[in-house]
Amino acid sequence: MTSGLDITGLCKSFGGIIVANNIDFTLRPGDRKALIGPNGAGKTTFANLITGFLAPSAGTLHLDGRNIINLKEAKRVKAGIAKTFQITTLFKRMSVRENIRLAILEREGKSFRWFAKDNGYSDIEEEIEQLLEQFSLQSSAADEVHELAYGRQRLVEMALTLALKPRILILDEPSAGVPASDSHIITDAIERLPEDLSVLIIEHDMNLVFKVARKIVVLVNGAILTEGTPGEIAGNQQVRDLYLGARHEH
Ligand SMILES: Nc1ncnc2c1ncn2[C@@H]1O[C@H](COP(=O)(O)OP(=O)(O)OP(=O)(O)O)[C@@H](O)[C@H]1O
Ligand SMILES: [Mg+2]
Repeated sequence: MTSGLDITGLCKSFGGIIVANNIDFTLRPGDRKALIGPNGAGKTTFANLITGFLAPSAGTLHLDGRNIINLKEAKRVKAGIAKTFQITTLFKRMSVRENIRLAILEREGKSFRWFAKDNGYSDIEEEIEQLLEQFSLQSSAADEVHELAYGRQRLVEMALTLALKPRILILDEPSAGVPASDSHIITDAIERLPEDLSVLIIEHDMNLVFKVARKIVVLVNGAILTEGTPGEIAGNQQVRDLYLGARHEH
């Protein structure tokens, strides 16, 4: 059996505009792939087709050899596909620890009445501490999310997503909005992710991409232009033209 994600011939159009054009893509355990490309290339759309937020117009999607095309978004999360929570889905008036606890309870399917601190779920408390430690958030555990610098809020998002115990992790612009002086905390967090996790990183910050990615996929107008190692991509004239010829907002 093939482990990981196998995508073939994925297509999606909005109105008359093709935003995913016959995409073939694989993601294996331990992969660190980056998806890059100009604004509007279709990167977020591609991520949304993987998570099930959007339905493709054609193509196949398999997870560990199982056809998941008909699984709704929540079922795909249960199957192990997770994309970082958007910042707006954090409970900004709750503490970091409480946010992580909710994500774990969500995964476990526990009702919110277990939310009380003395719920007796010591396993959950231990897991919270491990996640806080993994993302260097111990010192912020009791702070409300809105009090944190933006870079640390992005770490909380990653911790919440990891709390779902995914096998496929999709990070859509993990460093967006994070000041350059803080972007290393995002890079460090990505480098410390579990080794066997499959990670797809969508990102405009090329410093981050070239630091963490082992393979880079370039998407242009909904189609894959090329895929290669960071060295191959850096030396690819078409990619260089693309990046010299276009200005990027992020
Ligand atoms: N729900 C939608 N309805 C109609 N058009 C959409 C929708 N979502 C995205 N698009 C269009 O599809 C194209 C691809 O958008 P997408 O957000 O996937 O690009 P992206 O590569 O993630 O860009 P960015 O780098 O700016 O995040 C764009 O032209 C966008 O305007
Ligand atoms: Mg996008």
